[in-house]
Amino acid sequence: MSRVFLLIVACLIAVLASACVSAKYAFPTAGELEGSGRFDARQLESLEAGRVLAVVECSDCHRMYWPAEYSAEEWPGILATMGRRASLTEEEIADLELYFTVVAADSFDASREIGAR
Ligand code: HEC
Repeated sequence: MSRVFLLIVACLIAVLASACVSAKYAFPTAGELEGSGRFDARQLESLEAGRVLAVVECSDCHRMYWPAEYSAEEWPGILATMGRRASLTEEEIADLELYFTVVAADSFDASREIGAR
């Protein structure tokens, strides 16, 4: 009986934890961001390019860092350094900067903006 209870508690914790984790680790696509109505076509293109660059270029040397792990103020400095390390162009760094600052910890609420939980 108490083992069943523990199992139920464990499941509840797992469900709650995954809800929090997916909000914190949101990596929304430009298509998802479009729904917020905050961005024009050029910005959406840049956001999509930034997301693709992040996925392709930013986990060669270490694990993927999620946008929500740093604030919009912290990302530009980090990306300037990491962009050089990854040998990216100024334009690519600008796309990454837009993406990471839009989705950064303090500027993005996944549940509000893209309906993710
Ligand atoms: C050529 C290897 C390399 C590539 C490519 C790279 N990084 Fe890094 N990154 C590092 C190293 C090495 C560190 C360890 C900390 C340091 O030396 O600054 C690091 C640290 C970090 C940190 C932690 C910084 C801190 O101050 O704690 C973040 C965030 C990060 N990288 C993000 C990125 C992003 C985003 C990209 C893609 C644009 C990227 N990295 C591409 C090598 C790389």
